[in-house]
Amino acid sequence: MKIIVKLLTILFLFLSQISLAQNNIIPVPVSYESAGGELILYKDLSINLLSENDTLSRQLDVFKKDLSYLDIVFSTQTIDSTSTNGLIIGLNETPDEELGIEGYQLVVEEGGMVLMANASAGVFNGLQTIKQLFPVKRTLSAEGEQEPIRIETCIIKDYPRFGWRGLMLDVSRHFFSVEDVKAYLDQMAAYKLNVFHWHLTDDEGWRIEIKTFPKLTEVGAWRAERHGKFGAFRATPKTSEKSTYGGFYTQEQVKEVIAYASERNITIVPEIDVPGHSMALLAAYPQLSTKKEFKMVNPGAKIAEWYDDDTFKMLIENTLNPADEGVYAFLDMIFGEIADLFPGEYIHMGGDECYHGFWEQDEKVQAFMAKNGIKDGHEMQSYFVKRVEKIISSKGKKMIGWDEILDGGLAEGATVMSWRGVKGGIEAAALGHEVVMTPKQFVYLDYTQGDYSVENKIYADLSLKKAYSFEPVPDFVLDPELILGGQGNLWTEEVPNLPFAFYMTYPRAMALSESLWSPKENKNWENFLSRTEVHFKKFDARGVSVAKTIYEPEIRVYMEGRKLMCELKNPFTDIEMYYTIDNTYPIELGKKYTEPFEIPAGDLSLRAQSFRDGQAIERLLQVHRTDLEKRLK
Ligand code: ACM
Repeated sequence: MKIIVKLLTILFLFLSQISLAQNNIIPVPVSYESAGGELILYKDLSINLLSENDTLSRQLDVFKKDLSYLDIVFSTQTIDSTSTNGLIIGLNETPDEELGIEGYQLVVEEGGMVLMANASAGVFNGLQTIKQLFPVKRTLSAEGEQEPIRIETCIIKDYPRFGWRGLMLDVSRHFFSVEDVKAYLDQMAAYKLNVFHWHLTDDEGWRIEIKTFPKLTEVGAWRAERHGKFGAFRATPKTSEKSTYGGFYTQEQVKEVIAYASERNITIVPEIDVPGHSMALLAAYPQLSTKKEFKMVNPGAKIAEWYDDDTFKMLIENTLNPADEGVYAFLDMIFGEIADLFPGEYIHMGGDECYHGFWEQDEKVQAFMAKNGIKDGHEMQSYFVKRVEKIISSKGKKMIGWDEILDGGLAEGATVMSWRGVKGGIEAAALGHEVVMTPKQFVYLDYTQGDYSVENKIYADLSLKKAYSFEPVPDFVLDPELILGGQGNLWTEEVPNLPFAFYMTYPRAMALSESLWSPKENKNWENFLSRTEVHFKKFDARGVSVAKTIYEPEIRVYMEGRKLMCELKNPFTDIEMYYTIDNTYPIELGKKYTEPFEIPAGDLSLRAQSFRDGQAIERLLQVHRTDLEKRLK
């Protein structure tokens, strides 16, 4: 009996290994049935479009470009369903209700593939899945000939759990060129993320041409050049200093990005962050603040003081004057141009981290509040947000804002982006408002993702495992339909370039995409990890460096009596961790980790590294004893 159980267990493990090998798709599809055979592709792939459609043809061009690394010769025909060993793509004449707009059905048979969807968005998503079925690279035979491409036969039915699957890129703290943004869109589209939240304005730069107010970019897009850690360590600019660092997008460039996104099933949500975070705007038009003082675009110098209870004080005014009618007229023109440019349904008006101190000190604001029965700064801000909501809805768009827009009373029709946790989202949904969940603890992509000895340390951490555990619908939400979805946010105070933006975004955005696309019950951390490893190879093959911190030992220190103890963790069963605590190197000559150990007193560092099959994998971590002591909670 025992032997039979053992054999069955082995058989089960074997089968589950096979099914893993077949399906490395991220986000994991709704259903994947292996058919056990192989589709073998040689040099050519004929693509047959059963429906003539401009969008489909453009999407197909993107698909071919993405697969160009495989050296396949594509031929495209229209309305010819007889060809074999090719890819047939069509739109359902009778919609399959289950698939919705973005779902698709893919059948891979020995004779070819058939991809069907109700709409072009579904075809696009199906094409992303097909791309993932192709190998990382073309293998060569011993004679140097290209081997055929082999794809497992299967039937996939797939559609998203949420309609809003977003990534936010902050282009104010660092400017990212049009080419950078396009590359960012390429990667997100591959993971079926479909909303690009473009954080276009902040204290550190105004990044979009507004024709009515040219100074917004002439002045607001440029700052004194500073590098190094953001905040306290960068010098305040001198008034005599030239502002040379920055950049902006012309409206023509914005249109180009919108078209590029649309070919990749991505809608752009532009953000104009008001009434706080407006120092770049005020550098151009200081008359829109209460003090009307000259100021410069912040180069990342210290402009605020933060306190332990998460409250803060602005040292320089970065807020618009909510009692000035001119401010609303100004915003009306700006949002008018934004609404004309961006075809999407939503415009983001920011609303976060708005300091009320300058309003409290200003006689005119105080008189305005008294006259209008506004009792405090929160209500004043709520008045401002309601005015902005009217402006945005008058342009035929829906307003979305960070969860501070709840404070003092939520504007009618506003959608809330819940970032300080899920509380704001729960509150907004209870009021019947739509919500996008971006709780910082789970989706802030600027947070540190590995050990501080090898990663940039910022004020908080977010591991891949925690990112994967993100659940967009909290238990207390009575009407889950109000949760439109969720989003990862990449703030770029400490992210100065595209390679690092990718490093910070992936693989955490893959975890996010699975929380937003896949059925909750299909999610599985161990299985996600093994699929992620395959995707690491895909990134490697494309020369994109992503964070592989998941391989590295996770260090935890604690006190046991008077002993400083250290625990190392790693989620892979086939990875061994080695360490030394006597300042010696190489690490292989140290100890294999089996259980927590003591860090002895002395001028000593812990060195730890992961190994697989005897080979070092990822980085050596090195932390001095005094730094380990600082990590004690
Ligand atoms: C935010 O992180 N200030 C929305």
